[in-house]
Amino acid sequence: MNTFDENDLRNHPRHEDTDFSKMVDTLVSRRDWLGVAGAAGLGLFFGGESLAKSGGPAKTAGAVGPHMGFSPIASNSLDTITVPAGYQWRPLASWGDAILPGGTVFDPATRGTPTSQSLSIGDNNDGMSFFSLGPDHAVIAVNNEYANYEYLFLNGRCSSIDDTRKAQAAHGVSVFEVRRVGGVWKLQPQARLNRRITANTEMRLSGPAAGHAWLKTQADPTGTVALGTFNNCANGRTPWGTYLTCEENFNGYFGTAEPLAENNAFKRYGISAKGAGLNWFPFDGRFDLAKNPNEPNRFGWVVEIDPMDPTSTPIKRTALGRIKHENAEVVVNADGHVVVYMGDDEKGEHIYKFVSANKFDAKNPKANRDLLDDGTLYVARFATVEGKAQGEGEWIELTHGKNGLTAEVGFKDQAEVLIQTRLAATVVGATTMDRPEWVAVHPTQAQVYVTLTNNSDRGVKSNQVLNGPNPRAKNVYGQIVRWMPKGGDHTSNQFTWDIFALAGNPTLHKDAYAGSSNITPDNMFNSPDGLAFDRDGRLWIQTDGDYSNAKEFAGMGNNQMLCANALTGEIKRFMVGPVACEITGIAFTPDQKTMFVGIQHPGEKLAPSHFPEGGDAVPRSSVVTITRRDGGVIGT
Ligand code: FEO
Ligand code: CA
Ligand code: CA
Ligand code: CA
Repeated sequence: MNTFDENDLRNHPRHEDTDFSKMVDTLVSRRDWLGVAGAAGLGLFFGGESLAKSGGPAKTAGAVGPHMGFSPIASNSLDTITVPAGYQWRPLASWGDAILPGGTVFDPATRGTPTSQSLSIGDNNDGMSFFSLGPDHAVIAVNNEYANYEYLFLNGRCSSIDDTRKAQAAHGVSVFEVRRVGGVWKLQPQARLNRRITANTEMRLSGPAAGHAWLKTQADPTGTVALGTFNNCANGRTPWGTYLTCEENFNGYFGTAEPLAENNAFKRYGISAKGAGLNWFPFDGRFDLAKNPNEPNRFGWVVEIDPMDPTSTPIKRTALGRIKHENAEVVVNADGHVVVYMGDDEKGEHIYKFVSANKFDAKNPKANRDLLDDGTLYVARFATVEGKAQGEGEWIELTHGKNGLTAEVGFKDQAEVLIQTRLAATVVGATTMDRPEWVAVHPTQAQVYVTLTNNSDRGVKSNQVLNGPNPRAKNVYGQIVRWMPKGGDHTSNQFTWDIFALAGNPTLHKDAYAGSSNITPDNMFNSPDGLAFDRDGRLWIQTDGDYSNAKEFAGMGNNQMLCANALTGEIKRFMVGPVACEITGIAFTPDQKTMFVGIQHPGEKLAPSHFPEGGDAVPRSSVVTITRRDGGVIGT
């Protein structure tokens, strides 16, 4: 568990739940739940024995899905990356690698300076996208979510303005060119498009909330010019060639030593005087809530970056709402409207959808540049039928004046709905979820998948009762839920949903905590997080879970990446990461012969890792490449 999750545990009052979240505890209290569910035909992959005997889990009509031609690997707790036979991995870029003129080689004796860090790749690489510049040349944009102070600082603490500047420089986004030479992709230091975006880079706020009073500060009386981005978790890639970076646990960076007048919005977003121990506010007044109470309103957005222009100003797109954003999965609907699916990663928060007002025009790239400024934001309500693991759902519009979003309940205009998106979602009766992480849209089917990573509060707190897509109390394992838009139309307000996989431990449990029928002792995992489809429709699942390999998690080993056939439900383990890491971030070359994967925080909290260099090296978050030894297509 990272600092941010711990902070949320300590400090996060919850809203009341809705009528739509009905108890389904009878479902999970049945010891024979899997068999009963299968016999009742609940959920495509709730089969267990009964469906296995009738030929395996029900499949999408007529489909066999993509071939997964590799031999799955066993779990382990080694301090290295393990991949299937016939595959190989190499480090591509690590925290502290210089990418700009004047940058210096990573110095383990000092861990760098504010200046050297600002010229080098940031810490904790997370979501990333690959933008091709030719068959052997590309630019990669990768988020640097946060910093591991236990390695960034020799004394493990941020205790001066100098330290604060170094930490701020370790956050944000790294953009760097790569070239394939002799079949091996290599980082290109000092290439033209290389860029560091940090917690201090000037950005523009755009869309309906830009310029609103709640976004104005002493330093920016216009409410349109924000400084920086941080806690950038996952990402998105637009069809017009820009990169979306999503601000997640922004709250923990703010605090104050002064008395703080709390308010409902601060509470709901977890903003408190204490902060989460990042310790910027004592040294940088911008993060002092007493001095700058509106500064946190300028974070929690999706930021659009043009990776092809290192002088471009990143743009915070307020139309997409202010939440603890995980990723932003972009799909162009059949009618040309751009749809963006987004999760809000916190216990009991929600899933969102943005639909652009205007249409994507492939022939006129410039016309697409501001598509994300104008559109409609929705939040998901999953209808629960007691005892069923599938059902219907609807998208509820978050538009001022509709669905009860009026001045009487605290929203004077659309800007206020967007700045306090979470509060608006509660007003309209959104379904509380088990920490929505990444959303992924199938490349050819109208199916959308979301990882719900875990939720220790489910069924424990009165405002997070069990519901259909979140059916287990004290959910330590997580699940992957999917929905199918009505008529295959991503702009439809209606959908049906089911559960693709309930993670679990079938060696310990026989009830719902064993997982769904596609979870076995050979592929079990916990806390699915990163999620992406490849071009053939393989679903890649990355985990950010408990790597103790003990108790509830015995046999699961280190965090890992799995590959699933979305149409049959089969899941195979493809990769295991080093000690105390999380696997997060995934991209492919267009030929799918190279996969880029993120290894985040190896050795966190001083766990014994020396990844990737080995020996007695300081562990460093890294992007690695995975290729086949025979040069073939990944996954086939
Ligand atoms: Fe940054 Fe929700 O993971
Ligand atoms: Ca994540
Ligand atoms: Ca996570
Ligand atoms: Ca993480």
